[in-house]
Amino acid sequence: MKSQLFSRFLLLLPWVLIVIIVLDIDSSRAPLPALAPRGGGGGGGGSGGARPAAARAPPQRRPEAALPTIYAITPTYSRPVQKAELTRLANTFRQVARLHWILVEDAAARSELVSRFVAGAGLPCTHLHVPTPRRYKRPGLPRATEQRNAGLAWLRQRHQHLPPPQPGVLFFADDDNTYSLELFQEMRTTRKVSVWPVGLVGGRRYERPVVENGKVVGWYTGWRADRPFAIDMAGFAVSLQVILSHPKAVFKRRGSQPGMQESDFLKQITTVEELEPKANNCTKVLVWHTRTEKVNLANEPKYHLDTVNIELTSSEQSLKKKRASSFSLSWAPEERHQKIAR
Ligand code: UGA
Ligand code: MN
Repeated sequence: MKSQLFSRFLLLLPWVLIVIIVLDIDSSRAPLPALAPRGGGGGGGGSGGARPAAARAPPQRRPEAALPTIYAITPTYSRPVQKAELTRLANTFRQVARLHWILVEDAAARSELVSRFVAGAGLPCTHLHVPTPRRYKRPGLPRATEQRNAGLAWLRQRHQHLPPPQPGVLFFADDDNTYSLELFQEMRTTRKVSVWPVGLVGGRRYERPVVENGKVVGWYTGWRADRPFAIDMAGFAVSLQVILSHPKAVFKRRGSQPGMQESDFLKQITTVEELEPKANNCTKVLVWHTRTEKVNLANEPKYHLDTVNIELTSSEQSLKKKRASSFSLSWAPEERHQKIAR
């Protein structure tokens, strides 16, 4: 009797197992949980360098899939307001579909503050770093040259072996500006290089490209109107295809005057006639060159007096821990180029 039961059990066992396996496969095919990063081309690109962080929004992959990715290169440096600036930026960028944030720290190593921030930012992020050589850290000299070049190098390295078309748009997003969501809708359709007005810049309420019959014919600006492209860094976007087909276009230290970085860069990749005006023929301000006031820390005690340690600025950590980054490779060639150029 017992052995009969046992042989029946043995007969049934494989079938039970098959049913369990089929059920398991079925459930693993179910839609991805909300943890999947939102578009952004995945966010790969080096050990630890790229971190597609958790996104809370439900996956809307089908309508987004056709959209070109917007790559926002943001240079950033350690100071008391850094985390506040990055928080404000992330709160905007998180609402933009298929945006890949390339954060480039002006530092010898990735700081703990920014690393932690990126991990919880809730959008696809790539975290790079390159220090500005000390001799260039002076008032009156252009800022963030090396950091923007590191972002460009990463982008080219990531895309050069992929076949076209690779729909994408690059935009330089400084960490202290204010960006409307409409701006991203406008720049998304950039074919080569697009331009638009920037608020609160050049000593005026705004600067803007002057447009006639759908073409840029001049610049409305209060400062150095002789610039070939009298436009702020926040006033243009470039298609990924243009970045890839001009592999030598970079920001230059040598011969670069303050406020000429944008012109020097754009000269290498386009002409004024070619520019695509956005924001209703450059009649709407969708981005503002806001600048954060330097904070008053006059009453900050010299030594730590509080009972808790609150993270506000990364300077302490980054000074203590100069970790060699596994991501150095992505900017090293660019840095070498800078050194040879000088
Ligand atoms: C203006 C332009 O809007 C910038 O795009 C341009 O880089 C800058 O002038 C310049 O002179 O080079 P401004 O507001 O004066 O901007 O410059 P910041 O906002 O102080 O710096 C631009 C970006 O570089 C920011 O994202 C900032 O975080 C970063 N930065 C600044 C560094 O990475 N390292 C620094 O030492 C200073
Ligand atoms: Mn600024």
